[in-house]
Amino acid sequence: MARTNFKKHIVCIGAGYVGGPTMAMIAARCPEYAVIVVDINPERIAAWQTDCLPIYEPGLLELVRESLGRNLFFSTDINANIHKADIIFVSVNTPTKTYGEGAGKAADLQYWEKTARTILQVSDSNKIIIEKSTLPVRTAHAMERILNANEKGLHFEVLSNPEFLAEGSAVADLEKPDRVLIGSRETESGLKARAEIVDIYAHWVAPERILTSNLWSAELSKLVANAFLAQRISSINSISALCEKTEASVREVALAIGTDSRIGSKFLNASVGFGGSCFKKDILNLVYICEHYGLHEVARYWESVVMMNDYQQQRFVTNMIKVMFNTVADKRIVLLGFAFKANTSDTRESPSIFVARKLLGEHARLVISDPQALDNARIDLQDCTQRIEFSEDPYAAAHKAHAIAIMTEWDIYRDLDYERIFNHMEKPAFIFDGRNILDHEKLFNIGFNVFSIGKPPLKHF
Ligand code: NAD
Ligand code: UDX
Repeated sequence: MARTNFKKHIVCIGAGYVGGPTMAMIAARCPEYAVIVVDINPERIAAWQTDCLPIYEPGLLELVRESLGRNLFFSTDINANIHKADIIFVSVNTPTKTYGEGAGKAADLQYWEKTARTILQVSDSNKIIIEKSTLPVRTAHAMERILNANEKGLHFEVLSNPEFLAEGSAVADLEKPDRVLIGSRETESGLKARAEIVDIYAHWVAPERILTSNLWSAELSKLVANAFLAQRISSINSISALCEKTEASVREVALAIGTDSRIGSKFLNASVGFGGSCFKKDILNLVYICEHYGLHEVARYWESVVMMNDYQQQRFVTNMIKVMFNTVADKRIVLLGFAFKANTSDTRESPSIFVARKLLGEHARLVISDPQALDNARIDLQDCTQRIEFSEDPYAAAHKAHAIAIMTEWDIYRDLDYERIFNHMEKPAFIFDGRNILDHEKLFNIGFNVFSIGKPPLKHF
């Protein structure tokens, strides 16, 4: 079908973890719209059109294949596609600023603003612009000002439609979202644009799950959702430290509190700490915004969620070193998992990076194993790869190792032949379960010294 025969042209700027999957879902569910994903990165754009997608996500290849070349297109021709677009989703990265005012907390909006200026430069028709990226509350106001200060007589309606998908379950989350949130101005043109975006999602999302709000509520809700999710993890992780001192088990505590329907059972898995590109960045952004408005107590409250996460990662690796007789120098230590969570190749802010660097600082010899994330691991640790072995095979990795640390909750690590692994390890053999996914009693009976999160250790000495 020629691209001109479509009812509307939807363009998404940014072909990353959010832009790629969300547009693949819209294209699959709305065949009458042309969906074009553009990016400045030609390798990414090329990879989206092969069987080797730039990101690993269960079910994504099948979803992309459904529409690729039919009504889903990937392109590096940003200007021409913006020019033709009726609706533009902006899904570029918004990392934490590393320089100048707000460094370490505020969102770096340089990529964001560049897209606004490109849109303005190449457009000669009115368009709906949608914030898909996670942004500080009131960014839409700045976007409106940049876009609508044009001398072409054009009107750009800016909406916020934050994305709530989680990596590893992106396709399922997009297919059956808990909710879709669409924020707009409550003017005549704002409400009209809102209805157009509601109409896209209504192709497959039940009406009661499509929430609409004002622009600022939509922008802020995204930051708050991530802050609340991360807060739950920091809360249970803080309790895991107390469990280790008191012989309580954090799993039992999580079950006991999680069965209270007011608390709920999800996101109560104590761990080596949360990772991923979103939680830390978005909370720090929230902290920065609170400080900007003079709400220092509110800022400190949310900042403590990140501090607790740093503490948990530090505590995990410090404990490893301590129990291995205060030295890991020249010991072979295996990290099983490098991705920040299971079912993704993404390693951004993965606790494994922190733990690996700390152990390398203590002169350990590392072996890193992961079914999907080794390419990213090599990039993350490129300054010290001469002291690291990378191996997809956990058995080969564990050969002659002194210790194993479970860093990612990949299913394959639950069912390894730990007896075989134990037999080929140096003794005493240590296992550190940073995800609490293993049968600790069984491992102890095999002969391992077992250290998990939020439970007293099981050791033979
Ligand atoms: P990403 O880094 O994977 O992708 C962003 C893409 O934008 C990159 O491919 C980059 O090359 C491209 N880009 C940057 N500037 C550009 C420009 N001027 N023109 C064209 N392309 C440009 O990032 P992501 O993980 O997809 O996140 C995107 C946004 O979505 C962020 O704001 C993030 O906070 C938010 N978000 C992410 C997730 C997630 O799970 N990753 C979930 C919800 C929301
Ligand atoms: C998160 C939000 O869940 C999602 O809604 C938002 O759109 C983007 O940010 P993501 O970071 O992809 O998604 O994964 P998530 O499942 O939230 O996990 C984040 C981190 O928390 C991972 O490192 C995970 O292992 C950890 N985690 C999660 C725990 O340690 N314990 C838990 O109980 C849950």
